[in-house]
Amino acid sequence: MLRSKLPDLGITIFTRMTQLAQETGAINLSQGFPDFAPPAALLEAAARHLRDGQNQYAPMIGIAPLREQVARQIARRHGRQLDSQHEVTIVPGATEALFCAIQALVQPGDEVILLDPSYDSYAPAVHLAGGRCVHVPLQQPDFSIDWQRLQEAFSPRTRLLVINSPHNPSGALITRADLDRLAALLRDTHALLLSDEVYEHLIYDGAQHASVLAHDELYPRALVVSSFGKTYHVTGWKTGYVAAPPTLTAELRKVHQFVSFCGVTPLQHALADFMAAHPEHLDELPHFYQAKRDLFCQLIGPSPLRHVPTPGTYFQLADYRAIRDDLDDVAMAEWLTREAGVAAIPISVFYREPPKGLRLVRFCFAKQDQTLQQAAERLCAL
Ligand SMILES: Cc1ncc(COP(=O)(O)O)c(C=O)c1O
Repeated sequence: MLRSKLPDLGITIFTRMTQLAQETGAINLSQGFPDFAPPAALLEAAARHLRDGQNQYAPMIGIAPLREQVARQIARRHGRQLDSQHEVTIVPGATEALFCAIQALVQPGDEVILLDPSYDSYAPAVHLAGGRCVHVPLQQPDFSIDWQRLQEAFSPRTRLLVINSPHNPSGALITRADLDRLAALLRDTHALLLSDEVYEHLIYDGAQHASVLAHDELYPRALVVSSFGKTYHVTGWKTGYVAAPPTLTAELRKVHQFVSFCGVTPLQHALADFMAAHPEHLDELPHFYQAKRDLFCQLIGPSPLRHVPTPGTYFQLADYRAIRDDLDDVAMAEWLTREAGVAAIPISVFYREPPKGLRLVRFCFAKQDQTLQQAAERLCAL
C-alpha cells in the first residue's frame, strides 16, 4: 500500500547517538551543537523582538536588515558586492536551503556529484528530486579531492556538484587553488555548484576561508549556503542564508516559498541587530574554537586515540585502532558511548561505500571546557 520514497532511510545517526547518550548518561560529543549559552546580547535581542511584536510572517526572502548584514559581511570578507534583494535569501536552516536548492535545480535523471564522506542530507534530497548521486570519495588521510576521480565522475548528465568546506566530518579545507582547479573542471560543463559553507567562520591556525563567493568564475554558477546556527551558537534557531546570482536565487525561492515560505521572524531581527552591533564576534570566533580544539586535543593526548588537530569546523576525528581494531566505527561509537561514557559519531555513515578498515570516529568540541575535561578523563582511562 505504502511505497516509501526513501526506503533505505531510518532515523539519522545523530538522533540515534544522542538518544543513546541520553539513555546511558554518556557525555554527548556526537551531535554538533554547543552546550554553552549563545551571546547574551543575542538572546536579549530575541526576547525584545518577541515582546515587541515581531511575531508574524517574515518576508519570503527574509527581512531586509538581515539580508543587508549578510551582504555587508560578504563584501567585507570576500570582496563581492551582492544585491541583497536579489542575491541573498534568509532560510530556516541550511538543511532547508540545501533541500530547496537541490529540488530547484535537479531534474529526474540528472546526476549530482557528492564528495564522500558527505553530509547526510544531500543524498536524500537528490533522490527526492529524481536525481542520481555519483559518489566520489575524498582521499585519505587528509580528505583532499581526488581530481582524477572527480574528473571521471562528470558526464553530460551532471547537473550539480556539491562541495563542503570547512568539511563535516573531517574538518578539511578546500583551498583557493582547489577552487581554481574546480573552475577549470566545470568550465566546459553545464554543471552548477552547491557550496555548503556552514562552518565558514570556524577555521584555525590563521588559515583563511576560501569561499566560492570570492571566486569570479565559480560564483556565477553557484549557490553558497551558510548557517547562523554554527556562527552564533544557536543551532536550535535553524536560521541560515543562501547567496547566489539572481537567476539561481529566483529558482531557489520558487521552491523555498512552498517548503517553509519564510524563516522565523523575531530570530531574524535578533541576528540582524547582533551582527550590526557586534562585528567583533566573527573575529573572536576562530580563537574561541581553536582554544577548545587545542584543549581537547591536549587532554586526549595521553589516551590511546590518535588524532591530527582539525583545521576547521568544531569536529575532531580520532583513530581508535589502538583500542578496539576489531570493531567497525559504528560498533565502536556505540562501544565508546556504553563503555567509556562518551558519545561520538562514526564517519562511515557519511559514505555510500566506506573505505575498508576505516577506524575513525568524530567528536564535537563545541562544549564547555569542563565537559571536554570530563570526556577526556574518560577517554584517557581506556
Ligand atoms: C555540513 C553541514 N551542512 C548543513 C548543516 C545544517 O545546518 P542547519 O542546522 O542550519 O540546518 C550542518 C549541520 O550540522 C552541517 O554540518
